[in-house]
Amino acid sequence: MNALDPADEFGEDDEETPPNMARVFDFAIGGTENLQVDREFSAEVDLVMPGMSALCRDHRRFSAAVVDHWCAEGVDQFLELGSGLPTVDHVHTRARRTHPGARVAYVDWDARTVAHARRLVAGEQGVSVLHADAGDAAAVLGSPEVSEVLDLSRPVGVLAVGVLHYVHDDAAAAEAVHVYTDALVPGSGLAISHLTSTAREDIHAWATMNHGGWSYAPRLRDPADMAPWLTGFSVVGPGWVSAPDWRPEPPAPGPEITASGLWGVVARRG
Ligand SMILES: C[S@@+](CC[C@H](N)C(=O)[O-])C[C@H]1O[C@@H](n2cnc3c(N)ncnc32)[C@H](O)[C@@H]1O
Repeated sequence: MNALDPADEFGEDDEETPPNMARVFDFAIGGTENLQVDREFSAEVDLVMPGMSALCRDHRRFSAAVVDHWCAEGVDQFLELGSGLPTVDHVHTRARRTHPGARVAYVDWDARTVAHARRLVAGEQGVSVLHADAGDAAAVLGSPEVSEVLDLSRPVGVLAVGVLHYVHDDAAAAEAVHVYTDALVPGSGLAISHLTSTAREDIHAWATMNHGGWSYAPRLRDPADMAPWLTGFSVVGPGWVSAPDWRPEPPAPGPEITASGLWGVVARRG
């Protein structure tokens, strides 16, 4: 079996499973797709980093604002990298308020998460869940889950919400983003939210603790590290801002540090 193939035996009520990042995230944003082991783990993380749950909710505020913005611009196709579980107000639910036929391809590299996510969207026309490393952009774009759901000759909104900090290698992250953006036609968008440690010592402590077994340490970056990723795109609205504060208007300069611990940026291919 391919190491990335989700196994059928993953049951959502399996209390023997280790804590799972997507389910911990679901718990933090008020979802019900989580287990006791995730809730207990969430409490443990809070001892090291009390703001963890707030970070999850901030990611979600950012993605909701971005999806609303793109929908208002007429975008009705979305690719979410590192999608986790499509539970509370996720991309397809949010987008379909405006475009009932919106099409969404979700990508996650965690086998349990993918198996669980596929159960959640079973029966949803135009929604797929791909099991892949988002860092392997060519494989993602060439997969049937993406090519059969998204029409890349039309604008697509690509969300990298809380995922690129798990691509540790800077060159690999930049290369992956460029492969995605090169595939996008004018009118398409790219949205990134990314952890920083600037002014957030708790995030630095969390990033450097032992993550064996349950998760993986994030690579912390700031706008100067990521700005080259946006080559060929125009920044929309305020530029790099604290992710939960991102709005398409007014276009004011972003702050030098982000109080949330998350940078957010949205860019458009003109
Ligand atoms: C913080 S959660 C974000 C969930 C989602 N973007 C949202 O806003 O609800 C991060 C997710 O990214 C996934 N992930 C981390 N690194 C990844 C990678 N290299 N490729 C694909 N998925 C990845 C994890 O399995 C997890 O489900």
